[in-house]
Amino acid sequence: MSVPGRLLRIAVIGAGHWGPNLIRNFHNHQTSEVAWVIDRDESRLALVRSRYPDIQRAAHPGAALADPTVEAVVIATPTVTHYDLAAAALRAGKHALIEKPIATRVADAEELCALADRQGLVLMVGHVFLFNSAIRKVKQYLDEVRLGRLFYLSMVRTNLGPIRMDVNAAWDLAAHDVAIANYWLQANPESAAAQGGSWINTGVEDAIFANLWYPNGVMVHLQVSWLSPRKVRDITVVGEKGMLTFDDMNLSEPLRLYDKQVTEQRSTGLIDTFASFRTSIRDGDIVIPKVASNEPLRAECEHFLECIATGSRPISDGWSGAAAVRALAAIDSSMRHGGRRETV
Ligand SMILES: NC(=O)c1ccc[n+]([C@@H]2O[C@H](COP(=O)([O-])OP(=O)(O)OC[C@H]3O[C@@H](n4cnc5c(N)ncnc54)[C@H](O)[C@@H]3O)[C@@H](O)[C@H]2O)c1
Repeated sequence: MSVPGRLLRIAVIGAGHWGPNLIRNFHNHQTSEVAWVIDRDESRLALVRSRYPDIQRAAHPGAALADPTVEAVVIATPTVTHYDLAAAALRAGKHALIEKPIATRVADAEELCALADRQGLVLMVGHVFLFNSAIRKVKQYLDEVRLGRLFYLSMVRTNLGPIRMDVNAAWDLAAHDVAIANYWLQANPESAAAQGGSWINTGVEDAIFANLWYPNGVMVHLQVSWLSPRKVRDITVVGEKGMLTFDDMNLSEPLRLYDKQVTEQRSTGLIDTFASFRTSIRDGDIVIPKVASNEPLRAECEHFLECIATGSRPISDGWSGAAAVRALAAIDSSMRHGGRRETV
């Protein structure tokens, strides 16, 4: 149990590209400190030592997990290592924040959740977009049914690199989009179909095109690639009464709400001229909602600390991580079977 007034001590495993962001956030927070950084690469530990000489370092997690003053473990290592490290942390009685995706197999993800639940430990997955102000705002719009009945979502996440070897582009990139879609729609996909191509490393898809089918006929199309010339983080949501776009590359104005729809008139009478076709389209205002700027990772770290302090369940708890893994596994399975539709 955390003691009021005392800093919560954390071990961060993995200090590669992403780990330092977690170290910074937890070490600078007023209620936590990073006690240990573990990385099997000596050069990464040397960088940590130059920036944070007071943090203990090790190549293996053994000593940190045995340290009774450490209450929580944050895992930012390659995805294939998540399960073993998280299971060891939970078995040692530590709360755990695991980077996305939580594991590479559904059974492993569910085992971690059961392990945490049995011991009353907080298990959270780093679905960082659930802490993004614009994503939260869209959730509010959808909860208020501002767009009417939802038709489909189109999600594009491309860039040139970083290229992974341990997982394909779906596990690396679509993990974010599946988490966002599940959160917005308050549901998990029922089926998935996908096709992908691997050109850089044999058997590891660099670009993937997937469809997910959610309850109530909502369709989600995902396009992810780390082999693309432009960095695009773009989502379109199309509903019966309105539409919206989210552009994560536009920091000051990420959202656009479109008062656009195809009206009922379309189904009345024959559309045989340009003029009559135009009357069936409602082309109203475009609103740019004000979105508070925040560092989503900071909000994610604060949420983890708050859940430990209060014993509450994270909005991106282990089970939501397992749900994302189930969808990603179905995408993989579909790709292995020529793009056939798989039950999630
Ligand atoms: N939330 C986000 O937006 C976001 C962004 C980037 C990465 N990530 C996630 O963070 C994780 C790490 O990604 P990255 O880009 O930092 O990878 P990375 O390869 O740059 O860094 C991983 C680090 O882990 C170390 N490592 C590997 N296996 C280890 C082990 N068994 N024990 C100790 N250290 C070990 C490596 O030496 C390396 O320094 C991945 O799961 C990735 O999906 C999330």
